[in-house]
Amino acid sequence: MIVWKSKIIENWGKWSLANKIPIKPTRPLKEEDIGSIKEGSTRSVWMIDVPTSSGTFPVILKLYNGSKTFLKYYEWNVYKNLKDTRVSEFMPYFYDIQIDAENLEVWIFTEYLNVFGEKPKFKPADLYNITSSLARLHAKTFEHQPVAELIRRTVPEFQTERRNERLENIKGYLQQAKEDDFLKKVIEQYCPEIYELVERDLDFPEVIQSGKCLTHGDLHLGNICYDGQTIKFIDFGVATFSPCWLDVVKLVETILDNRFEEKEREIRDKCIRIYLDQMQQRGISFSEDPNRLYRMAYLMRVLEKELRRNLQATLRGKRPFVSQLVLKKISLFSNELHLI
Ligand SMILES: Nc1ncnc2c1ncn2[C@@H]1O[C@H](COP(=O)(O)OP(=O)(O)O)[C@@H](O)[C@H]1O
Ligand SMILES: [Mg+2]
Repeated sequence: MIVWKSKIIENWGKWSLANKIPIKPTRPLKEEDIGSIKEGSTRSVWMIDVPTSSGTFPVILKLYNGSKTFLKYYEWNVYKNLKDTRVSEFMPYFYDIQIDAENLEVWIFTEYLNVFGEKPKFKPADLYNITSSLARLHAKTFEHQPVAELIRRTVPEFQTERRNERLENIKGYLQQAKEDDFLKKVIEQYCPEIYELVERDLDFPEVIQSGKCLTHGDLHLGNICYDGQTIKFIDFGVATFSPCWLDVVKLVETILDNRFEEKEREIRDKCIRIYLDQMQQRGISFSEDPNRLYRMAYLMRVLEKELRRNLQATLRGKRPFVSQLVLKKISLFSNELHLI
């Protein structure tokens, strides 16, 4: 078992971090300056309170360890490859990235930001600001932009083949769910149409043709930060070059489920309008009705990700079923789209 704190102190000195941050520390780092934010089997996140003459200066360390770390596409490539592009304003500033190939570790030292997930009162206006920033990030990385080529080399590209495979999986899980008393009842209650729906053509070419860009892929409030007026996104671990609407639905619907269930429709409509306006101001428009694109993208995303994963985990006895709201929205959106 590695004692990370002593290793952090050792590497902080070895890589001269004191010279790479914007303040001058008043003494060498001690274990009590380091706090753990999250510790998992392949990565951990640390807050380092660097001692300064006026108090402390916070630095975030995200540490990947283990062999999975050395796959081709990963978060640090996003930070490194895009640092001199117009995309960098949407990402945390990084002080240093060190790849320790011998120990299979990657050390990312970044600026500390305020995380929306910890904001005491999260308001619809916050969601509108985030939506607007997301549109700007998307527009800057859209497929016709010069930077798109570099992004395509940095993150995986959306793959239709993987989708088809996952859709086949979900059909199998739904059949298995029929044999499970609890799942059968929940599906019957929230979305009895789903059996018929998954037999339909769910390719949604309109969503794919509406344009690809850098998509974050995991937009929940723990991965979105603010720093004064600026909004930044952290945790680009599952970023891809994918249809833009897939990111919009993940952002908006996750927040609607957790925070504003009662004013859902009004807030959703406004987010779609804001996204569209921001994109249009940057010369990007959509030939299909954006309200339809949004609903199709939601079905694409949840059938492949949230619902598929949750059904899989529940059927394997690993996790309880928590996707009732997802089922409810699948029912609502597929009816609004006249798919059923
Ligand atoms: N730059 C940062 N500033 C402030 N907090 C951060 C920063 N980076 C990460 N965190 C905190 O650590 C948590 C986990 O980091 P994250 O990069 O999202 O890792 P994971 O891939 O494990 O979700 C975040 O949800 C946030 O609370
Ligand atoms: Mg995260």
